This record gives sequence, structure tokens and C-alpha cells, in this order.
Amino acid sequence: MKKAIVVGATSGIGKSLAEILVQQGYVVGITGRRTALLQELKAQKPAAFQVRTFDVTDLNHITQHLDALAQELGGVDLLVISSGTGLLNLRLDFEPEQQTFETNVSGFTCVADWAFRYFEKQGFGHLVAITSIAGLRGNGAAPAYNASKAYQINYLEGLRQKARKQKKPVIITDIRPGYVDTDMAKGPGIFWAAPVEKAARQIFKAIQQERKVAYITKRWALIAAVYKRLPRWLLEQM
Ligand SMILES: NC(=O)c1ccc[n+]([C@@H]2O[C@H](COP(=O)([O-])OP(=O)(O)OC[C@H]3O[C@@H](n4cnc5c(N)ncnc54)[C@H](OP(=O)(O)O)[C@@H]3O)[C@@H](O)[C@H]2O)c1
Repeated sequence: MKKAIVVGATSGIGKSLAEILVQQGYVVGITGRRTALLQELKAQKPAAFQVRTFDVTDLNHITQHLDALAQELGGVDLLVISSGTGLLNLRLDFEPEQQTFETNVSGFTCVADWAFRYFEKQGFGHLVAITSIAGLRGNGAAPAYNASKAYQINYLEGLRQKARKQKKPVIITDIRPGYVDTDMAKGPGIFWAAPVEKAARQIFKAIQQERKVAYITKRWALIAAVYKRLPRWLLEQM
């Protein structure tokens, strides 16, 4: 039986993906800060889920939590990082920026590194992270969010190169959604928001196919191609 950990499984994409993994026969370790939501998910199929509550910004304890969860599961084949925060910050207050980089940069790095080392040691494994199309360019309304997603995209590329050089079958998948209809994607300017189950199904398929990069839903690949090439003067006026 395959074993997975989904970090950030209390809601949205992570929750939906955890449900799909269980339907596909995985045993899944689910994490997040909201224990009640994790217990609610576990109640759907108690034997298929292992719950672990922790905050990815609590850097001194992440390794301990993931070690314990891996032991409870009896191994890990797949780890998905879906934890993330995205805050509009029009006044450019420091606190939302700090919350964003503590979660999406520091917490992300700590979890990704744990997974890489774990898979390196066992000789195989698959690390998946939900980054974003936002990581392709800067955004004045949420500068830290876009910058943190650019960091994640670049970091994953680095880990992929590292795995390749070490000739280790450690697969790194970068999932770049456009808008997905979750708590995070609320507010003005949202378009083409995919239902979360549809997005999670496409993410699962990309995992099965061991894709290096996948846009979710597929039509966001078109937007990404244009967005990446948008002239700077035009981006500045948006
Ligand atoms: N929705 C979109 O349109 C969209 C688009 C592109 C990329 N994404 C990315 O997709 C990922 C999932 O987001 P979502 O849309 O599914 O939003 P969501 O429903 O708000 O899910 C975010 C998840 O991250 C967890 N999380 C947040 N801060 C955490 C922390 N400090 N420690 C541990 N867990 C934490 C949350 O759990 P707790 O609150 O229980 O801790 C929750 O499970 C994010 O990385 C986001 O940037 C989303």
C-alpha cells in the first residue's frame, strides 16, 4: 500500500487531493493547524488517514513532526506541500509579508528539505509542491505572495537538478494552478476559477504521470505562456 503525506490538508486543494489519494488506495498523513478539520477528514475513513497537527512556521519542530508521521505511516512514497498563505497587502504592511514568507518560504523549505533527504536516504520518492502561476511575475497587490511562489518554483528546479546529479530516482513535481475555488481565492479579479475537485483530479493525474511542471487547470498553461512574455511596461500598468 502506498503512503503519502499532504502538508496543508485541512481545506482546499490539499484536502481534496488527500481524499483522492485515499480513493486511489493510499494511506495518507494529513497535516495543518486546524485539528478539528483534520479529524473531520479522518472520520470519512479512519484507517486511511493519520492526523498530525503542526504549523509550518514552527521551524524547530517540523522535522520531529514529519519523522513521527512517517513512522506512523510505515514509510512515505509521496509528499505534497499544499500549505500556503496568500494575502492582499495594498498598504504594504510588514506583518502580512512576514506571514507569507514564513509560511511559503521558510516553512516550505523546511518541509521540502525534509522530504528530499528522506527520499534520498530511502533511494526513491516523489515530492510535489503546489506553487502558482503567480510565481511567474511580480504583483503590486501581493508582492510577497508572488515573490514567495517564484522562490518555490526556483527551489524545486534546484532540487530536481540535485536529484538528477545524484542519479537518485527522486521525482520533483511543480504544480502551478491559476485560480482554484478555495478560501484563498476570494475577492475581486478572480476569473476561470476551477472547482477544487476538478483541480485536484488534474493534480493527481500530473502526479501519476510524474510531470516536472503542470498548469492547473490545463488552460492556465495558455495564460502562463502569455503572462511570462508580457512586456514589463504592460505588466506595470496592470
Ligand atoms: N486557490 C487558488 O486559486 C490557488 C492558486 C494558485 C496556487 N494556490 C496554492 O495552493 C496551495 C493551497 O491553497 P488553497 O487554495 O487550497 O487554500 P486553502 O484552502 O486556504 O488551503 C491552505 C492550506 O494551507 C494550510 N496552511 C496555511 N498556513 C499554514 C501554516 N502556517 N502551517 C501549516 N499549514 C498551513 C492550511 O491549513 P491550516 O489553516 O489548518 O493550517 C490549509 O490546509 C497554496 O500554496 C496556494 O498558494 C492556490
